[in-house]
Amino acid sequence: MLGTLFTLALLALMLCGFIFSKTTKGIPKSWYEWKTEFRYQYMGIVGLIHDAQYAKRDRVALYKQPDRIAVITGGNRGIGLRIVEKLLACDMTVIMGVRDPQSAEAAVRSIVDISQSSGKLICEQLDVGDLKSVRAFAQRIKEKYTKIDLLLNNAGIMFAPFRLTADGYESHFAINYLGHFLLTHLLLPQLKASGRSGRNSRIVNVSSCVNLIGRINYKDINGLKYYYPGTAYSQSKLAQILFTRHLQHLLDEQQAPVQVNVVHPGIVDTDLFEHSATTSVPFMKKLFFKTPERGARTVVYAAIDPAIEGQGGTYLSNCGKGPMHGDAKKPEKCEKFFKYSCDLLNIKQYGNGEN
Ligand SMILES: NC(=O)c1ccc[n+]([C@@H]2O[C@H](COP(=O)([O-])OP(=O)(O)OC[C@H]3O[C@@H](n4cnc5c(N)ncnc54)[C@H](OP(=O)(O)O)[C@@H]3O)[C@@H](O)[C@H]2O)c1
Repeated sequence: MLGTLFTLALLALMLCGFIFSKTTKGIPKSWYEWKTEFRYQYMGIVGLIHDAQYAKRDRVALYKQPDRIAVITGGNRGIGLRIVEKLLACDMTVIMGVRDPQSAEAAVRSIVDISQSSGKLICEQLDVGDLKSVRAFAQRIKEKYTKIDLLLNNAGIMFAPFRLTADGYESHFAINYLGHFLLTHLLLPQLKASGRSGRNSRIVNVSSCVNLIGRINYKDINGLKYYYPGTAYSQSKLAQILFTRHLQHLLDEQQAPVQVNVVHPGIVDTDLFEHSATTSVPFMKKLFFKTPERGARTVVYAAIDPAIEGQGGTYLSNCGKGPMHGDAKKPEKCEKFFKYSCDLLNIKQYGNGEN
């Protein structure tokens, strides 16, 4: 009797866990959607275990580097805000590309006493999902700075309802990936100018562990025929990985003093989950997820830690190496996707800063 009750309670708990951690607030409508949900649940559980298992390793030492200039997309809230806090603690000049510069500056000032910091904060308007805005942002940066040391491609959305951007791209693909692909191309001359042997300038792409269940759907990249938010998110996060891998290959060929890494920040308690069922039980996030401060650690590790100097092209999680998607291990797949992205944006020579 007691055994049956225990089994029933366990099953009920598992069912609640499943229902309240779905990527959508609605009920999956097809076998494909159920399958996607199960795969997300699996990745989520593995991610949480990994975060707990490597909690001690998840550390980054902040050291003073007042000569360095960092550019970050987003940064007004969530993980990005804590990244900015850490970079300012290193006395860097931090340029935030944000949709609302005024409120972004207020958000940073609410956690950092800028008057007491040797770091410098600059907030510039950027909608990374709008290619015109990306070009204008890059132009403003290039006019003011001949050198940039760090580029952190952090801004992102997750599980959003279907929307095409003004440029005609599905919003996850546009914001999480394509806008950052273009921004990196435009700022690469400044990144190359600041790096030197033994002190590479660095690009950090903030991806996610769910890249592992992602697939690039060349036939329907915007999900026009069939759209499921979880599929769009994992595709965009895999896109960042393939981009990272091929870009590092190009940089190595050119012997450029720049390295590019890609990061899973952990499962972090932020507003990113606004479209998922997880928001129905906030205590679940508080209980099991990383804080945004912890979420910022691997990103900052990828940006500044001397331990990974010269080790571009790696996927980092909890301040160490993480498992790579099968496609990311195949250079021809990375190159195919990279060229596809250049074609979308009509980029003839990636990294020359012109567009
Ligand atoms: N939280 C997690 O568990 C988790 C796990 C894996 C990966 N990640 C990745 O970590 C990154 C940061 O996520 P987060 O958890 O910090 O999410 P968040 O709290 O929701 O913050 C998202 C950030 O992206 C910005 N952003 C969104 N759309 C933008 C646009 N079109 N133009 C400019 N900025 C835009 C937001 O600015 P606004 O305020 O203007 O919207 C905000 O600063 C994302 O790339 C996400 O995919 C997070």
